[in-house]
Amino acid sequence: MVAKGLEGVIVDTSGICRIDGDAGRLIYRGYDIHDLASNSIFEEVAYLLWNGELPTREELERLKKQLSFERTIPDSLKRSLRELPRESNALDVLRTAISALGIQHQLKKPELADAMIITAKIPTINAAFDRIRRGEEPLDPRADLGHAANYLYMMTGREPDPIKEEALDKYLILLADHGMNASTFTARIVASTWSDLYSSVVAAICALKGPLHGGAPAPVLQMLKEIGKPERAEGWLRDHLKDGNRIMGFGHRLYRTTDPRAEIMRDVASKSAERSFFELARHVEQSGVRILQEYRPERKLYTNVEFYSAVVMDSVGLPSDMFTATFAASRIAGWTANVLEQVANNRLIRPEIEYTGPVDRKVVPIENR
Ligand code: COA
Repeated sequence: MVAKGLEGVIVDTSGICRIDGDAGRLIYRGYDIHDLASNSIFEEVAYLLWNGELPTREELERLKKQLSFERTIPDSLKRSLRELPRESNALDVLRTAISALGIQHQLKKPELADAMIITAKIPTINAAFDRIRRGEEPLDPRADLGHAANYLYMMTGREPDPIKEEALDKYLILLADHGMNASTFTARIVASTWSDLYSSVVAAICALKGPLHGGAPAPVLQMLKEIGKPERAEGWLRDHLKDGNRIMGFGHRLYRTTDPRAEIMRDVASKSAERSFFELARHVEQSGVRILQEYRPERKLYTNVEFYSAVVMDSVGLPSDMFTATFAASRIAGWTANVLEQVANNRLIRPEIEYTGPVDRKVVPIENR
C-alpha cells in the first residue's frame, strides 16, 4: 500500500521527542513542553536534546562557555556574506554559510562538538547578514549574554529588554524539536548515508524553507497586517479560502487538537506584543478556527505553532524575512540531536516507490522518433 506523504509510517525508534497529536502533547526526552518552557532556557533544552538529561549547574555553565567561545564567525565568512546580493533570502544565506563552514569537515563522522559549533554560529550568521544588508557592520557576540539575548543584541545593537529576551528564548525552546518533521527527516536521511553533520544541516535548511513547513510565519504576519482590524478578519479569511488558498498558521499533520506550542506561544505573545496587535491575532485565530470548521468539518484545524510565532518574532523586533532563519536557530538543536541518534544506530534510509509509468516500450531509433 502506498503511504502518500509517508503519513502514519514509523521509520525508526527515537528517544528524543514524543508527539501525542490527539491529546495535544509534546514531550522532549520525557519532559512536557509546558514544563520546559516554564522552567528552563534554550541552552538547557539543547543540552537535554543532545544528551538525554537536563544539565547540572556546572554542565550548563560549561555549555554556555562553549557556545560563547564558538559564537564568533570567521572574517572569511563575513567577507562572503558581504558578497551576496542584499536581497537574498535569509535562509539561502544561512544555507550557504553553513555549507562554507562545512568545507573543512568533509565526511567527518557527526559529533556533539560540531552540533554545538553550528548551534552557536547560526544567530551570528543571521544577524551579520541582516546588518550587512542594511549597510551596517556585523557585531561581535558578547560573552556576558546568553543565546537569545546575544541574537537580539547582534541584530539590533542594543541589549534586549528582558521581556523580549524571554519571549525569544521561549520561542527557541518551543521550536527546538518536533519528531519526524520534513527537515529533521531530511537531516536523518543524509546522515544515514554516512555523510557529515554540516551536509545534514544544509539539507535540513533546504527542507525548512517551504511554506508548508518553516516558511509559514512571514505569510502569517503579512495576513495579520493585511487584515489590520478585527472586523475585516472574517471577510479576508473567507475570500482567501474561496480562491483555494490555505490559511497559514492553521492545521497540522499530527495535531487533531490545539498544538500545545501554539498555546504557550499565545501566552508569550500576550506579554511581548502590543496589546492591539495581540488582540487582532486572537480575533483572527478565533475566526479562522470557526471558518475552517465550516469549510472542512471533517478536519480539525486549529492554529499551529507558526501562527503566534509570527506575532512573537515581530514583537521582539525581528524582520519578517528573518523568521524562517530564526526557526533554524532553534531547530538546529533537534536536527543535530537526531543526526547523532541516527549515526549511533544507523541503517541507510531507503524507502521504495511504486512505479506507475508505462511498461514494455522499445527504443525507436532517433531518426524515426
Ligand atoms: N487552510 C485551509 N485548508 C487547510 C489548511 C489550512 N491551513 N490546513 C489543511 N487544510 C485542508 C487542506 O486544504 C487539505 O485539503 P485537500 O486534501 O483537499 O487538499 C486538508 O485540509 C489536509 O488536511 P491535513 O491532512 O490535516 O493536512 P496536511 O497534513 O496535509 O498538511 C499542513 C498539514 C500544516 C501542511 C497544512 O495544515 C497547511 O498547509 N497549513 C498551512 C501552512 C502552515 O501553517 N504550515 C506550518 C506548519 S507547522
